[in-house]
Amino acid sequence: MKGRVLVFLMVLCLLFVSFAVSYGQQASKDPVLADVHKAKGLQCASCHEKGKKVKVDDNEAIPNKQCVVCHGNLSTLSKKSKHEINPHKSHLGDINCTTCHHGHKPSTTYCLSCHNFDIKIPAGTVSAPLPSIKLPEIKEIPKGIKTEKTDIVVVGSGAAGLSAAITAHDKGAKVILLEKMPITGGNSQLAAGGMNAAGTKFQKEKGINDSPDIMYEDTMKGGKGQNDPALVRILADHSAKSVEWLTELGADLSDVGRLGGSSVNRSHRPKGGAAVGAHITQVLKENATKRNIDIRINSRVVKILEDKKGNITGVLVEGKHSGLYRINSKAVILTAGGFSANPEMVAYYQPAYKGMTTSNQPGATGDGMQLGEKAGGQLVDMKEIQIHPTVAVGSRILITEAVRGNGAILVNREGKRFVNEITTRDACSAAILKQTGKTAFLVFDEGIRKSLKQIEGYFHLNLVVEGNSIKDLADKLKIPSDVLEDTISTYNKAVEAKNDAEFKRPDMPRALKTAKFYAIEVMPGIHYTMGGIKIDTETKVINKDGKPIKGFYAAGEVTGGVHGANRLGGNSISETITFGRIAGQKAAEFVRSKR
Ligand SMILES: Cc1cc2nc3c(=O)[nH]c(=O)nc-3n(C[C@H](O)[C@H](O)[C@H](O)COP(=O)(O)OP(=O)(O)OC[C@H]3O[C@@H](n4cnc5c(N)ncnc54)[C@H](O)[C@@H]3O)c2cc1C
Ligand code: HEC
Ligand code: HEC
Ligand code: HEC
Ligand code: HEC
Repeated sequence: MKGRVLVFLMVLCLLFVSFAVSYGQQASKDPVLADVHKAKGLQCASCHEKGKKVKVDDNEAIPNKQCVVCHGNLSTLSKKSKHEINPHKSHLGDINCTTCHHGHKPSTTYCLSCHNFDIKIPAGTVSAPLPSIKLPEIKEIPKGIKTEKTDIVVVGSGAAGLSAAITAHDKGAKVILLEKMPITGGNSQLAAGGMNAAGTKFQKEKGINDSPDIMYEDTMKGGKGQNDPALVRILADHSAKSVEWLTELGADLSDVGRLGGSSVNRSHRPKGGAAVGAHITQVLKENATKRNIDIRINSRVVKILEDKKGNITGVLVEGKHSGLYRINSKAVILTAGGFSANPEMVAYYQPAYKGMTTSNQPGATGDGMQLGEKAGGQLVDMKEIQIHPTVAVGSRILITEAVRGNGAILVNREGKRFVNEITTRDACSAAILKQTGKTAFLVFDEGIRKSLKQIEGYFHLNLVVEGNSIKDLADKLKIPSDVLEDTISTYNKAVEAKNDAEFKRPDMPRALKTAKFYAIEVMPGIHYTMGGIKIDTETKVINKDGKPIKGFYAAGEVTGGVHGANRLGGNSISETITFGRIAGQKAAEFVRSKR
């Protein structure tokens, strides 16, 4: 009897302890949005469908519709924000609420995968985790896997993918567009400078004399002659048509400026010189939506399927909620972008660039090159990687060359200059990498700040350290202030004498003498990958024997050959539209021939 009581007491004790432990865990876990809403009396059905077993598609369409019903859309919410940087209004355009706010795990502010501004999200942590750089290895396709059917699958929703999808749709094909990230737009959405085109009506209106032949010459010269001449011919010859096509879809590309390596003004962008990428990806997305094209985010293509003869038959997709499934299609268009945000791939092709940051969106992990190669495609120019010397440390934000152009200097942790700041991108990058900590401080004063409007953005984005004097700035940067004072005074003397005896900087427009003094910590970053899948002039993917693979097309940064050893600014957006359209057209023609 006594023994039984003891056992009973022991069991009770154990139950209590385990309850206390689990309760403790519960209490220490931060509430997620579903809990926050439950506490307000809002049950599951407020975010999900009433009376049904909860099912969420990869676009998370129903929960997002529900958020807007109760809270309003981004535009209404943005009017409420007290912050200078408004998470509900940005260059990303109209994105899902669930890009940042999650139902059952801590919310994460997507903006912080590129920026480092100080902003907190309710029921969540600060920054979003980076997507995996590894493509899952799928040896065997599971039996009985869910299977769908369409004419054409497009892989990646940047400018190339959207252009291909719209064109193929307009030629009568049924299209599914897959994007692995929670937003569409890829790197295309970030392009700022412009879109190169030769012989446009906008150039003619401004009296600019340009021709496809001059664009061809500039591009070949920029690429050190390593480019595929037939592809460059297409880039140049179709460029004006591509601007026209975008204009017909509703884009404004009426402003024309100049980017490095072009011998005339041919870089097209919206009126007033606004960023080109955010604008055109939004116009393209609106057009795709208007056409009811099936766009699926949170949907990563993990394998391209082929039959025994090597002809393409579809893709395997890993959906955030739907898991692994298969789409059978007559053609696949690969538009998955570059690999600048895959440090392992970058270090493999260019060991010297190991550990470098990047200006690219976190999804630029080179899936496309890996998928294409596994499906038989040939890779070209993979070692050709473009770096940019000044990406802000702690973010992915590129600091424009114009800051140095307008007079800023670079100093190291010892407080000294170490390079002619306006030398070529690769030489300047190499010099920074030789400094302590492999970073440098871009130092400027009030005069330089006033000379360049773009600099204000870096202040908004919390990238700039400020000092009331040179000493104050040096103290904040934790570098020796006497050395920094010396460095700046020597530099100012060189400006006055128009002779930089130390580093032979040819152009020194301003001395650094007006308080406040400012610094942005910068490091070289991977900016663009020239290499990729080999294609022919019809965007057909070429196999290792030099023959086109049936049903397989590719366009945009995932391909190699257009830019040779070095891409000119403005040529990439041009490439995505021109080759994206050709891919859409050729794939649709191929599909029709199989009917
Ligand atoms: C900061 C910045 C500024 C730039 N400025 C300019 C400029 O002014 N002018 C210019 O011409 N170029 C510029 N570029 C380069 C240019 O933006 C890009 O090279 C170009 O937009 C690439 O377009 P794309 O459609 O090929 O790829 P992206 O736009 O990168 O789209 C590829 C998409 O595929 C998705 N994807 C990848 N793998 C998978 C998978 N397995 N399944 C599903 N989806 C996948 C990606 O997430 C991405 O959304 C700039 C680049 C950056 C980063
Ligand atoms: C505030 C809105 C909200 C509430 C309330 C809510 N959910 Fe969700 N739910 C979401 C969102 C958003 C997702 C998408 C995944 C995510 O963000 O976590 C989701 C996803 C899910 C999923 C799919 C998970 C997957 O990975 O496929 C299930 C199942 C689910 N919810 C069940 C519930 C149940 C049961 C309740 C009530 C206890 C509930 N949800 C309450 C917003 C909500
Ligand atoms: C049925 C209406 C309803 C739906 C649907 C709904 N919410 Fe709410 N939400 C509320 C209410 C009510 C509150 C509490 C408001 C308050 O306390 O001021 C709230 C609070 C919040 C908060 C603030 C939490 C905090 O701690 O401050 C966020 C963020 C939020 N909701 C986001 C979402 C998102 C994202 C969705 C869609 C996935 C969603 N809500 C769906 C009604 C709703
Ligand atoms: C890019 C990330 C992001 C997206 C997308 C986003 N939010 Fe937010 N949201 C935030 C952050 C960060 C905060 C907290 C800072 C603030 O209040 O400005 C916030 C705050 C809120 C709040 C509480 C404070 C307020 O302003 O009322 C609500 C409610 C909310 N969001 C709803 C939504 C809804 C609904 C959507 C979709 C229409 C949405 N959010 C889309 C990041 C985002
Ligand atoms: C994929 C990377 C990426 C993401 C995600 C991103 N941005 Fe940006 N953002 C950039 C780049 C690149 C620039 C251009 C910087 C420049 O040269 O001015 C920029 C510029 C900006 C600027 C302009 C600075 C100014 O005032 O002139 C603001 C504001 C901004 N972003 C806010 C946001 C917000 C808010 C979000 C989230 C809703 C966000 N960004 C998400 C990359 C990103």
